[in-house]
Amino acid sequence: MKLVALATLVAAFGSSVLAASGGSTQGLQSTECVAAGDASKNLYATKSEVKYAKLFTIEYHDSYKVVNDLAANGTYVLYQCGSERPSVKNADAYIPIPVKSVAAWSTSAAAFIEALGVQDHVQNLGTSPSITSACLQELLAEVIKPFDEGNSTSVDVQEQNNTVVFNMPGGEDANATNTAFSSEYLETSALGRSEWIKFFGAFFNAEERANKLFDEISSNYECFTHKANSEFNKLRPVVAWTSYAAPSSFNNNTAYWQISVAGYKYDLVRDAGARMLNTTSRTQSTMFSSAAAFLDALEDVDIVIDESFVSYTYSELLKNYGISGSNKAKYPWAAAGRVFRPDRIQSTAGGLDWFESPVVFADALLQDVIGVAHPKFAKSAYSPIWFRNLSKDEPVAVVTASNCTDMYAARKDPAATCSSIDFQSANPTDSAYSGVDVSQTQDLIYDISKSEIISGAAALRAAVVATLGGAGAALAALYVL
Ligand SMILES: *[C@@H]1O[C@H](CO)[C@@H](O)[C@H](O)[C@H]1NC(C)=O
Ligand SMILES: *[C@@H]1O[C@H](CO)[C@@H](O)[C@H](O)[C@H]1NC(C)=O
Ligand SMILES: *[C@@H]1O[C@H](CO)[C@@H](O)[C@H](O)[C@H]1NC(C)=O
Ligand SMILES: *[C@@H]1O[C@H](CO)[C@@H](O)[C@H](O)[C@H]1NC(C)=O
Ligand SMILES: *[C@@H]1O[C@H](CO)[C@@H](O)[C@H](O)[C@H]1NC(C)=O
Ligand SMILES: *[C@@H]1O[C@H](CO)[C@@H](O)[C@H](O)[C@H]1NC(C)=O
Ligand SMILES: *[C@@H]1O[C@H](CO)[C@@H](O)[C@H](O)[C@H]1NC(C)=O
Ligand SMILES: *[C@@H]1O[C@H](CO)[C@@H](O)[C@H](O)[C@H]1NC(C)=O
Repeated sequence: MKLVALATLVAAFGSSVLAASGGSTQGLQSTECVAAGDASKNLYATKSEVKYAKLFTIEYHDSYKVVNDLAANGTYVLYQCGSERPSVKNADAYIPIPVKSVAAWSTSAAAFIEALGVQDHVQNLGTSPSITSACLQELLAEVIKPFDEGNSTSVDVQEQNNTVVFNMPGGEDANATNTAFSSEYLETSALGRSEWIKFFGAFFNAEERANKLFDEISSNYECFTHKANSEFNKLRPVVAWTSYAAPSSFNNNTAYWQISVAGYKYDLVRDAGARMLNTTSRTQSTMFSSAAAFLDALEDVDIVIDESFVSYTYSELLKNYGISGSNKAKYPWAAAGRVFRPDRIQSTAGGLDWFESPVVFADALLQDVIGVAHPKFAKSAYSPIWFRNLSKDEPVAVVTASNCTDMYAARKDPAATCSSIDFQSANPTDSAYSGVDVSQTQDLIYDISKSEIISGAAALRAAVVATLGGAGAALAALYVL
């Protein structure tokens, strides 16, 4: 299936003007094409080494690189423009680099490109109304053409007019010979997701930028992990990642309630000095077929992070989850008002930044999870970037092109510098921790053997159907799995 088929929103933008010249060449190598005879030189003195990510590899040769997406089983040969095209076994695409013009279907690919500061090369973007980045919105209004998603012939023409098209597996296009799939959303660690900056960097000969950015993200992330675990280790609230899907034509009119245990979420919760709600299902998500069964799993949970696709008020969430005045006190998260949604930053059409910048900036994401798990973690006040306190019905923040200051600047990491934050130890008598069991430090594992769950093929069908539930939700579903 084509991802284009998933996108139902088509944006109408004004006429485009010519792209201004992009950023500098600092942090880029071999920016010029070579003469065929020069190809034996070592063109890529700066290499990227993959340390955390499990789903891609980069192998360097004198005048080309072989990049593998291990989840999509894609082999992409990136050879220096002007040099003779090498021949590599099982290659899916041969792409001359540094790439001149690129297109991206997923909003997370677009975020990586912007973090590298190479968005001056972007010619087309998919699901453009979902894009939250202020500067990509401005570029879409002035320079970048959205994919013509209502017309597959036109999309083919647009795709073939780029040096490379970044796509998600499943968004396959039969006649594209310039597609590179990226599977950052399947990566099972928080830093592994961020490290995909090196995958994208390789296409632009931007290894130096990618390495530098990743080193900054990972060392800041590790500082947060270290501080959180030394200050909060003896007081670890239980965090559950949940969602509700209302009955609809997409799920055979059968509602379900879900607990997600995707790998990167374990990292974030544990590294934040908290405990994860796990289940005995041994799959990445458990779908319950009744609110009662779901609520039973949430009985000892302190904090709920709700990822339901539809945005709603706190009272609607309580209703969907089956919480009322009579049972509220039984659930620490409901009793204390500790329900959050990661949807604070949105585009006008409701696209979530949650699928863009936190994928790149794991340190900022961890900082946010710490802010939710230990609200007074910093001695000076801290408000989360992406999490919205739904219990308080905090408003969302809509980003438009007018929020952009320099459309060709590299997107900045919104994380604070961990080493400069004065952490505050967790205090069991603080009301922020009311109801938290201070005697436990391990993950909470809920036994589903007696629960009403949706399993096997039906669960898969429900998940696929959720993926089809709208342009904004298309990528969302993949991350919730
Ligand atoms: C990966 O692709 C190669 C050729 O492109 C093929 O031979 C191999 O069977 C594929 N492996 C999987 C697991 O799909
Ligand atoms: C779709 O795009 C093609 C190529 O740009 C164009 O020739 C065709 O008229 C378009 N079809 C419709 C229905 O707009
Ligand atoms: C792509 O392939 C489809 C059939 O698979 C064909 O109808 C279409 O013309 C092709 N488009 C291009 C641009 O080659
Ligand atoms: C193809 O790319 C060129 C320049 O990169 C651009 O001027 C042209 O409009 C593009 N064509 C289509 C059909 O998008
Ligand atoms: C849809 O639900 C009906 C009853 O509610 C059931 O009989 C049917 O098998 C379901 N279909 C699928 C595809 O799950
Ligand atoms: C979650 O619990 C299951 C069942 O006890 C266990 O096999 C699995 O390793 C746990 N997952 C993690 C990441 O700890
Ligand atoms: C979230 O909102 C609830 C209800 O107003 C409040 O009690 C709680 O302190 C808030 N938590 C945070 C971390 O802001
Ligand atoms: C975007 O700009 C508007 C107007 O200046 C401002 O009110 C809003 O807070 C900004 N949004 C974000 C998310 O920064």
